[in-house]
Amino acid sequence: MKSERDPLPRHIAIVMDGNGRWAQKRKRPRTFGHQAGQKSLRQIVEHCGQIGVPELTVFAFSSENWSRPRQEVSRLMELFLRALDKEARELDENDVRIRFIGDTGAFTPELQEKMTQAQARTSKNQHMKLNVAVNYGGRWDIVQASRAIAAEAAAGRLSPERIDEAIFNRYTALPQSPDPDLFIRTGGEMRVSNFLLWQCAYTEYYFSPALWPDFSPAHLDAAIAEFQRRERRFGMTGEQARIEAG
Ligand code: IPE
Ligand code: IPE
Ligand code: MG
Repeated sequence: MKSERDPLPRHIAIVMDGNGRWAQKRKRPRTFGHQAGQKSLRQIVEHCGQIGVPELTVFAFSSENWSRPRQEVSRLMELFLRALDKEARELDENDVRIRFIGDTGAFTPELQEKMTQAQARTSKNQHMKLNVAVNYGGRWDIVQASRAIAAEAAAGRLSPERIDEAIFNRYTALPQSPDPDLFIRTGGEMRVSNFLLWQCAYTEYYFSPALWPDFSPAHLDAAIAEFQRRERRFGMTGEQARIEAG
């Protein structure tokens, strides 16, 4: 039997999908949905802070999203820019540490500067970590880690025989984070869309039909409750896993 004391996920990953459809249902432009999605993110971060989820990684812009209509991409960039100042202050007040993961060099210097500032401003915060994936792709992450490792090896600082999973992990975008326990995708699609491929090898997947702007703290609680009902076996038998879990 599972009880209320079942552990909370130590790290939740979320693919925040469905903004465009949410807006289209209201006969509004897709970017209206992205704006509404920001509000949803604010609520979910706050809720995680309140219930004690220590780390959240959200997919805000994928390396594939550059393929969207130019106008949507530039509106998204404007929204990020505007959100950064305001949200960074609020996150700081709530003791949240923000980090951006992804190939951020592709953004305008102004946006990069604001990201750096938000990271610096919140770098000492302890209560919760928020990682925002922008121009992120799981395959990009694996390739950039491999490139960095190869450079170390070529420079004679790392011998190829020493490379194992723990060392490889140090070169990925989330070297200090536990792997996500729970992966949530909103918007009804059941795919990974190149999110945290390396990190989610043993993560529990949860797909919600709710469009991201409709995804509320109650939806998150439902996802966590479902997570707590799952039995994670990590390759063991059920019996072994139950002994291991105590
Ligand atoms: C997710 O919502 C936000 C981004 C990818 C930036 P979508 O914009 O993908 O919304 P749908 O899937 O078209 O409804
Ligand atoms: C994934 O959503 C990326 C983000 C939520 C930022 P997409 O809407 O881009 O994914 P696909 O295109 O449906 O796979
Ligand atoms: Mg989508």
